[in-house]
Amino acid sequence: MCGIVAYIGDKNPLPIIIEGLQRLEYRGYDSAGIFLSNKSENSTTKVAAKVEDLKLEIEKKPNFKATVGMGHTRWATHGVPNQENAHPHLSNSGDLFIVHNGIIENYDVLKKELIKREYTFYSETDSEVLINLIEETQKQEQVKLGKAVQIALNQVVGAYGIVVFDRKKPDELVVARLGSPLAIGLGKDSFYVGSDATPFLEYTRDVVYLEDSEIAILKKGKPIKVRNISDDIEVDPYIEKLKWNLENIQKGGYDHFMLKEIFEQPQAISNALRGRLLMSENQIQISSLTEHENKFLNARRILIIACGTSWHAGLVGEYLFESFLRVPVEVEYASEFRYRNPIIFPDDVVIPISQSGETADTLAAIKIAKEKGAFIFGICNVVGSSISRETHGGVYTHAGPEIGVASTKAFTTQITVLSLMALKLGELKGVIGKVKFHDYLTELSQVPDKIECFLKNTNNIREIATHYHKSPNCLYLGRGYNFPVALEGALKLKEISYIHAEGYPAAEMKHGPIALIDENMPVVVIATKKGHYDKIVSNIQEIKSRKGKIIAIVTQGDTTVKQLADHVIEIPESSECFSPLFSTLPLQLFSYHIALMRGCNVDQPRNLAKSVTVE
Ligand code: AGP
Repeated sequence: MCGIVAYIGDKNPLPIIIEGLQRLEYRGYDSAGIFLSNKSENSTTKVAAKVEDLKLEIEKKPNFKATVGMGHTRWATHGVPNQENAHPHLSNSGDLFIVHNGIIENYDVLKKELIKREYTFYSETDSEVLINLIEETQKQEQVKLGKAVQIALNQVVGAYGIVVFDRKKPDELVVARLGSPLAIGLGKDSFYVGSDATPFLEYTRDVVYLEDSEIAILKKGKPIKVRNISDDIEVDPYIEKLKWNLENIQKGGYDHFMLKEIFEQPQAISNALRGRLLMSENQIQISSLTEHENKFLNARRILIIACGTSWHAGLVGEYLFESFLRVPVEVEYASEFRYRNPIIFPDDVVIPISQSGETADTLAAIKIAKEKGAFIFGICNVVGSSISRETHGGVYTHAGPEIGVASTKAFTTQITVLSLMALKLGELKGVIGKVKFHDYLTELSQVPDKIECFLKNTNNIREIATHYHKSPNCLYLGRGYNFPVALEGALKLKEISYIHAEGYPAAEMKHGPIALIDENMPVVVIATKKGHYDKIVSNIQEIKSRKGKIIAIVTQGDTTVKQLADHVIEIPESSECFSPLFSTLPLQLFSYHIALMRGCNVDQPRNLAKSVTVE
């Protein structure tokens, strides 16, 4: 996790780095720091607080015209979030500076070696070990900074995205990556570096995404130079054109990114469908799927691997693929899958799902599945992300930047893409007949408008939240396609409001959770008309008999559940397979309002980070 920003050029680096760090705070916000330098002066400022506080701290210091700088917003791995552990870190000579994202796994061994050579450490971080290792390499080998970084990194086990600066070489930055993303913006005689491209969106459209095991030398006024770290071969960097603009990453009048992103869902889903759902031709066209359709049609099994919300989308995918493709599906937590020595058949199709495309466990699981010969077809939001590069083929969700830590539009667009894939493959395989296929396409094409309409009138959700924002617990129940939605609803509430919440398949309630139900327990039940309506009505009766407070998500016009539940939220009517696209919405808003009423930081909940790039 952690966010990195750096700049070298003729502009003032301070506002570029501060603004950039604020855009990257979704990656971590335990502490922050900045280093600024010109040929004669330099200054380091660090705070065990957010970037806003860093800015205030810098304002207290005397001003000087810097030409180079680097900044960091931290999600603590080694050492508590305090000033000493905040980045940038300094080498013992005081010449070398580093900002680092990732984990150096063998830092302890390296540190012991450096202590033997009389190095002193002032923080508990692995990053301080790395910068001193680079310094020692420079001394031993008598090589230039870039070479020293390269030699040092070849001794490192773990993951890194780093920027290194040497005071003796004020016109140069050295950046390198393995497992932690780094984007380099190319300006006129200047370079911008970011953990993603958002820090420099307004300055340049040209970006080089460093590949794993690559090091780049950024010399002011010279072209970028990239080499492979292990085999020391010069690489021709691929320059991409940025598609996102500044508007995409601003709040646009909303109080929080999460709220903005909830309300962006009609547009995000339209974008996910655009050019793929072709109503006039009664077709679904996903070129990468067509290219690999035989892999899917001949698959013995589909394995979906993901974490968190993306794993929940994967569970919806299980229902979709099993219904429409009639192929067995397993949905795996990437973190469990990778350490289990999983059995993978050559005719398995593996679908990793990830918003960020950087989740370390998902990335590692892909590598294992690939080594075992599986075909990998990814579903990602972030274009050019590590996961999207690691797969054999895949589909982007096109949700646009998701900045709120709690995933919202990423989830519904993942389900949209999974629906498109399942329908297309089901039609190809002959499981879905022509008429039914047409009906599904029509329905899917109407989803964005129906969501737009639903989002116009959501005041009742806020009102319901006023009754429950002080509850210590909450239970979420759903069946079939809406069981994963129950899990997702519980996750949303937990992560942003810190209320303990559990999601369960409704029928499973009798096997334990029912013991929790009394007059103080709010139970959110997804009770949409299609699917297992009668069964879920019985579950509602069971909760009512035990005096639980029922918040029911029902289909528009429902009368039965209305008589039983304490509160109802009506959602648009749909086929069962598309109901998660609607039933998720009130749960996102319910969590949002509860978190606000509890005074929680909705966009940056405690202890969390948007991309989990450490295992
Ligand atoms: C959900 O709100 C969280 N942000 C988290 O569970 C997230 O879905 C998970 O970390 C996976 O991230 P990814 O989709 O970027 O791989």
